[in-house]
Amino acid sequence: MKISVCAKGGSGKSTMVTLLANEAKNRGSRVLVVDSDESNSGLYRMLGFEQPPVPLMEMIGGKTTLKKNMGKPDIFSDAVIPVDNIPEGYLLKNDGIMLVSIGKIMQSLEGCACPMGVLSREFLKKVVVNDGEVVIVDMEAGVEHFGRGVETSIDNVLIVVEPPFESMAVAEKIHSMSSGSGIKNTWAVLNKIPNEEIRKRLEDELAKRGIEVIGCVYLDQEIFMASVDGRVPHQGAAADQIKGVMDFLLARTGEKRSNLKGVM
Ligand SMILES: Nc1ncnc2c1ncn2[C@@H]1O[C@H](COP(=O)(O)OP(=O)(O)OP(=O)(O)O)[C@@H](O)[C@H]1O
Ligand SMILES: [Mg+2]
Repeated sequence: MKISVCAKGGSGKSTMVTLLANEAKNRGSRVLVVDSDESNSGLYRMLGFEQPPVPLMEMIGGKTTLKKNMGKPDIFSDAVIPVDNIPEGYLLKNDGIMLVSIGKIMQSLEGCACPMGVLSREFLKKVVVNDGEVVIVDMEAGVEHFGRGVETSIDNVLIVVEPPFESMAVAEKIHSMSSGSGIKNTWAVLNKIPNEEIRKRLEDELAKRGIEVIGCVYLDQEIFMASVDGRVPHQGAAADQIKGVMDFLLARTGEKRSNLKGVM
């Protein structure tokens, strides 16, 4: 299962990725988190790593090399990338969770992030996911990644929606672009919800836009305080609230498999 977590900036993508990764790990899945956000670099800390992985962009010689090959990036010469073939340093492992990073914008005037998008797309296409394995992608904020085709091989898009109106507007755009990319499994997860009234209101607004809500994480003081240290709590209310989202995703994946068996 490949899940991408998308949303407006600051709505809780990285927090949600961390909660989902911990939950999948606790259920015994092998979890690979892909940091595909070229701007923010704190995901490794949220996941409990001491340092970030060396970006995959470095492995292929940096953005300039990739730009020359734009369109057919030679990230690895093989047609597929088994996770275990990713060299140490580029793939970090900690307590059942693995982490890779595509690349970060490090300097002013270094050029646009399109090569990161190409590399993300190709990596996600090629990385091998077996039964019982989960790949979770922390996307860059906004919708540009859809324009770059990063989601081509993703089978579940989760849109994080927080109360401010702008979040809803971006969610609508993501949903439409995701559907336009041919992804049928696009759902919303509410985040930072202060009370049932706001929850109901957002659910209704999303329903009007044809977007189904599959979970809700409430406004959580523990999450906010942990973020001062760059961490996400591994236990507590939010960790419990995310369980339903994982149940839903696993059930849908199971359904899809049995449908396929029926067809074959
Ligand atoms: N449910 C929640 N309750 C309280 N605070 C939250 C909750 N979810 C996220 N936050 C806080 O909101 C802030 C942004 O969260 P996070 O970094 O996960 O967002 P993001 O979408 O990944 O941001 P960016 O677009 O900058 O990558 C953090 O301070 C985080 O601790
Ligand atoms: Mg983030």
